[in-house]
Amino acid sequence: MFSLQNQTAFISGASRGLGEQFALTLAKAGADLILTSRDVYALTKIKKQVEDLGRRCETIALDVRSHESIVAAVAEAKKRVEKIDILVNNAGCNVRKPALDVTWDDWNLVLDTNLRGTFFLAQEIARHFMIPAGYGRIINIGSVTSVSGYAGLGPYGASRGGTKQLTMSLADDWGKHGITVNCLAPGWFKTAQNAVMYEDAEWVEYLSDRIPLKRPGNVTGGDLDGPLLFLATEESRYMTGQIMLIDGGISTGSTRATPNKK
Ligand SMILES: NC(=O)c1ccc[n+]([C@@H]2O[C@H](COP(=O)([O-])OP(=O)(O)OC[C@H]3O[C@@H](n4cnc5c(N)ncnc54)[C@H](OP(=O)(O)O)[C@@H]3O)[C@@H](O)[C@H]2O)c1
Repeated sequence: MFSLQNQTAFISGASRGLGEQFALTLAKAGADLILTSRDVYALTKIKKQVEDLGRRCETIALDVRSHESIVAAVAEAKKRVEKIDILVNNAGCNVRKPALDVTWDDWNLVLDTNLRGTFFLAQEIARHFMIPAGYGRIINIGSVTSVSGYAGLGPYGASRGGTKQLTMSLADDWGKHGITVNCLAPGWFKTAQNAVMYEDAEWVEYLSDRIPLKRPGNVTGGDLDGPLLFLATEESRYMTGQIMLIDGGISTGSTRATPNKK
């Protein structure tokens, strides 16, 4: 169970953070990888780590905000590998601002990257690899904001709510082709995207108190590895269109309903 021998996975945004960890997890399970980033040189370290695990690792430049770049990256992948079994649609960004300060360009940056990019990358890989093969595992990275609202995260929450909705529609579209589409939705994990927030000990304490498991997620500690592998392998064969929240329980809406901590 949970083997990815003879499987090839394509990961967007693999240069750091969650994407880097997803690459290691899939490689350890036996998958060969195509890793992407806007800057192909930013993939040098992770490429070596994957190859040291004995897996093949191709690196390709990809900017998911550009349709031309998506088409070119998938065409390049077609030249280098015979199949793509798994897509981890991970590239994403965030702009944290009070709603009144969000600009038109902020909105476009977040929605174009997180939602439009997710859709068109899935479309291109489904068209050229998964539909002809009659098999695919698409894992769209959502977020706890796919299901919960947070002040200061308007565009981001809209993009991740959209990711969840898109997952359901694509699952219905492509189920007949043997493709499952699910949304892996992490809670609060410290990465480059949000590192500055974790420097504020008071905020970390506040956040941890709202999480039933009483701590933020740990990217390299394995909190997402098992859920990712489940969605990437045959073990999830009868699951599609679903969101899997890995968030320590914060999406329960955990707010103390009694005045004291005890
Ligand atoms: N960290 C969390 O707590 C958390 C929680 C829930 C969901 N997520 C989601 O998980 C994903 C990874 O987050 P992270 O925290 O690991 O963020 P991160 O450290 O900022 O990494 C983001 C990745 O996305 C890539 N990327 C950004 N814009 C891109 C673009 N236009 N085209 C292609 N690639 C692009 C970056 O690559 P380059 O800059 O090298 O191009 C980088 O590899 C994101 O989609 C995020 O929304 C994160």
